[in-house]
Amino acid sequence: MNARKVIIDCDPGIDDALALMLALSSPELDVLGITITSGNVSADKGAKNALKILKWMDRTDIPVYLGERLPLVRDYVNAEDTHGEDGLGESGYDVPAERSYREGAVRYLADSLHHAASASEPLSIIALGPMTNLARLIKDYPDSLAGLGELVSMGGNYKSHGNCSPVAEYNYWCDPHAANLVYEAFETHPLLSDKQIHMIGLDVTRKIVLTPNILEYICQIDPSIGEIITKITRFYFDFHWKQEQVIGCVINDPLAVAYFIDRSLCHGFSAYTAVETEGLCMGQTVVDAFDFWKKKKNSIVLTETDAFRFMCFFISRICHTDPAALLPVLQQIFVPPADQRPLTPHPCPAPHGVPAPSAFCQPAAKEGLQP
Ligand code: RIB
Ligand code: CA
Repeated sequence: MNARKVIIDCDPGIDDALALMLALSSPELDVLGITITSGNVSADKGAKNALKILKWMDRTDIPVYLGERLPLVRDYVNAEDTHGEDGLGESGYDVPAERSYREGAVRYLADSLHHAASASEPLSIIALGPMTNLARLIKDYPDSLAGLGELVSMGGNYKSHGNCSPVAEYNYWCDPHAANLVYEAFETHPLLSDKQIHMIGLDVTRKIVLTPNILEYICQIDPSIGEIITKITRFYFDFHWKQEQVIGCVINDPLAVAYFIDRSLCHGFSAYTAVETEGLCMGQTVVDAFDFWKKKKNSIVLTETDAFRFMCFFISRICHTDPAALLPVLQQIFVPPADQRPLTPHPCPAPHGVPAPSAFCQPAAKEGLQP
């Protein structure tokens, strides 16, 4: 089977790094290039991180293009609190001296799409960051869309709460005008009349948690890959504990890559989606699931995923291991997503005379003990 040609537009970023490692370990993909936008960290830092990742993966043949440094309208807000000042968890990896990145990501995307159209070989884009580059592409090079295969975007949320406001996911909150322009193009642009954005949002990515046990398993299978992932995720683990009391880290971006390769990993529905660009709910994806507005269903909103099968997919590729060989240990250590676990068991009763720490256990009515 011929590998599918893709360009990955991203903001590396720890989970972007894991997604790139997955993509570069998957024979189903022919990654033509990596385009960078400001997001988790500035585009300049992101481009340097992409060079580091390509060095780890021994794919320094793949070009890196620097894109938009600022959102279309909003002030730029990074996510260094989550990904570290260097964007890779303060892991301290050096930029490979022998490599450099190029300017002109948007022109590179346009030229690549024009070539794809003339070769009648559609080029797909996997977008893992704010969609500023893609919005610029649509504004400045609309005819290039003739060469687009599919667009899979990690971003947005349907029923899941936001991660940088009560209702907004970071990629679409960071540049809501860009996100909305892209979704509008998939509603109205004639060259996209038969296409939909595949929205891999927080509803599915929150179910993908890299736990310490899974990380330990990766280290046992492939110590060199394990060392890299350990170094870049430590900061991310700490952030997740402080922010959401999660042991481990949600890895959003790799799911978008995995889904591009194997559509059975996620399920959802078609709907018209728009992105709020102003005010309290800025960055929120408004999904018209019940077709109130009778508009073109410009998106496929993914809402369910098989987290176990994803983890098996992810580990087998980055560790170059037969998925079947992973099952015995993975079944032992895998923690199902919250909505797939048995009901929370009652905690053990508090020792006699000690107030119960939980609402489940009614404390003994003792003199002076607060309920
Ligand atoms: O909200 C999560 C997304 O924002 C991920 O792509 C992460 O890398 C950041 O870009
Ligand atoms: Ca990202």
